[in-house]
Amino acid sequence: GNEMLTVKDGKLKIDGHDAGELAKMYETPLYVMSETQTVKNFERYVESFKEYSEKTGKETIFSFAYKANTNLALTKLLSKLGCGADIVSAGELYIAKISNVPSEKIVFNGNCKLKEEIKMGIETKIRAFNVDSISDLILINETAKEMGKIANVAFRVNPNVDPKTHPKISTGMKKNKFGLDIESGIALQTIKMAEKMENVKIVGIHCHIGSQLTEISPFVEETRKIMDFVVLLKNEGININDVNLGGGLGIPYDKQKVIPVQKDLAKAILSVIYEYESKIELPNLILEPGRSIVATSGVLLGTVKHIKDTPVAKWIMIDAGMNDMMRPAIYEAYHEITSCTLRSEKEVVSIAGGLCESSDVFGKDRELSKIEVNDTIAILDVGAYGISMANNYNSRGKPAMVLTSEKEVSIIRERETLADLISKDIVPNHLL
Ligand code: LLP
Repeated sequence: GNEMLTVKDGKLKIDGHDAGELAKMYETPLYVMSETQTVKNFERYVESFKEYSEKTGKETIFSFAYKANTNLALTKLLSKLGCGADIVSAGELYIAKISNVPSEKIVFNGNCKLKEEIKMGIETKIRAFNVDSISDLILINETAKEMGKIANVAFRVNPNVDPKTHPKISTGMKKNKFGLDIESGIALQTIKMAEKMENVKIVGIHCHIGSQLTEISPFVEETRKIMDFVVLLKNEGININDVNLGGGLGIPYDKQKVIPVQKDLAKAILSVIYEYESKIELPNLILEPGRSIVATSGVLLGTVKHIKDTPVAKWIMIDAGMNDMMRPAIYEAYHEITSCTLRSEKEVVSIAGGLCESSDVFGKDRELSKIEVNDTIAILDVGAYGISMANNYNSRGKPAMVLTSEKEVSIIRERETLADLISKDIVPNHLL
């Protein structure tokens, strides 16, 4: 949950800092990321899975899914805690390197890797490229050959497991574009091709079935299918060192629901893996959590600028918008919203941003404490896929960002300026 949030004398505090004061001091829209919450979320992974290495002597690696949030302060924080990186682009690899993530904790995902990205990964000696197709494998092998190097490859398989989540963030079903199908034999065929290639080394099997999973059973099914496949490979004479089960653990966007947490995930996954102890040498375990490490740490603060009554709703218009945080607009995602000044009187309101799109609405018909112009509004659980999906639509600069701990508040991203908005545009001579 959002353990960094407290309420004192009717005011919302983040790590003890008054949210309304932060909004005034740093201006809005403002992302506030809690360092304390991020550390807790990550340490819960370490704690929950630590028995695996103790029991088996194998490695357990957590590679943070950079796409969730690549703010440099956060990636450096996680790297310092011993966290690796799941990257999907040259940009994310660049950030992982600047964040001093050890190369053996970097895994490269994606269904359309580019040659330049592959080169950079090979130079960095990353732990594995997660191969998504035969064509991807061929490109990795060819690139390594040109460089006179060997590239480590793992194979992203598609286990055809229903993750029971939003269709736009489900990835491990037959109909999805990701991975190598197990059932039809394509996965095995691809791995056998790799065996014959001179410039790749087979190190692992990878899988990621989807994001915001709120049940454990799909993870159990996934783990079993992967481990069965590892056994099959062993019988074919192919030994797998690393099993990477991807990310996907959900967070409680809806505070009424109780959903599995890190220790439930660990219990379920590990008990399946242990069943295979007599059949194979157990592998190193890699996970790629994104959302469950940073989502609950983030709050987006906006200031109420206008209040408008219509025959159907009372609209609260805030200066944060869908360009700052797209999730409600594109997935109809639910995010808890609260006023930072809690008054005893309540009212039902709809909260919207100021962009010229009807989907620029953060929440409809929410019962909140009475709101006045200039109040600060907090949108919760935006630390993952918030700033990383922000854009400049309607020529709005991306928001500033601060990092809080009980001790201090640090600015970790400057607000974009008007000049930033046109800094990459070029006007040809005839229009000057
Ligand atoms: N590994 C792979 C290969 C992935 O594709 C993803 C997320 C992750 C790990 C991390 O998953 P997580 O632990 O964060 O669930 N923009 C969407 C989420 C897209 C997730 C894409 N892949 C959203 O805002 O809900």
